Amino acid sequence: MAKQLLGSIELNRVYQLDVLEGISLIPDKSVGLVVTDPPYLMNYRSNRRVQREKFKHIANDVDSHDLITKYLAECQRILKDDTAVYVFCSWHNIDFFKTEFERNFKLKNIIVWNKNNHGTGDLKGSYAPKHEFILFGHKGRSLLREKRIPDVINCDKIPSAKLTHPTEKPTELLKLFIRNSSDPGDIVFDGFAGTGSTAVSAREEGRNFITFEIEPEYVEVANKRLDALV
Ligand SMILES: C[S@@+](CC[C@H](N)C(=O)[O-])C[C@H]1O[C@@H](n2cnc3c(N)ncnc32)[C@H](O)[C@@H]1O
Repeated sequence: MAKQLLGSIELNRVYQLDVLEGISLIPDKSVGLVVTDPPYLMNYRSNRRVQREKFKHIANDVDSHDLITKYLAECQRILKDDTAVYVFCSWHNIDFFKTEFERNFKLKNIIVWNKNNHGTGDLKGSYAPKHEFILFGHKGRSLLREKRIPDVINCDKIPSAKLTHPTEKPTELLKLFIRNSSDPGDIVFDGFAGTGSTAVSAREEGRNFITFEIEPEYVEVANKRLDALV
């Protein structure tokens, strides 16, 4: 298949590249949707033994506030007018993420993803964690393409034994956002690809994508997932 280019960036490829370096190559107002899952800045480490042994720490998951600030400003720059943006985060740093999000976008919802299966946490001292947040908003105004649903979304988390990344997101959820806030052929952007869940979801929904991921081993898995689709 002929390569499709946006400036010097190849579409539909998972680049092994630092996000700020990569995103600087994307022209202003050229992307149709951002669905992104950045490091949550919480030094995430699963309490489940299998996951702990399988995966290393997530890059830039501690004290990278400056990275997130610059990243969201760049997402604002590359998005076309009247488009949408979805940013995963957790309650731990919701105040920081919300402030930075609102610097760049009109916040419309804080969507609650009910993972239908709780994690561990402080077994005796806290309620069992079962949700994550997604900041949803607009650059300009973006209309939902499908039937309006409530802002608490039930979607099973991926079982630990099947994870290819410690914080892998279900494509079922990502595809819902992509269908709702973009059109076939649009470019979906995720600067923190992990093992390519956004890329896989975009392709399955007939969209193009641009993604970057810093860890080579995750890029390799992402490419395998994409190859398995064709
Ligand atoms: C929360 S995870 C994304 C997981 C992904 N949604 C999935 O389903 O596989 C964030 C990812 O960002 C990557 N990352 C961290 N800093 C980065 C940077 N400066 N540039 C590109 N990727 C980075 C990490 O290696 C990690 O894989």
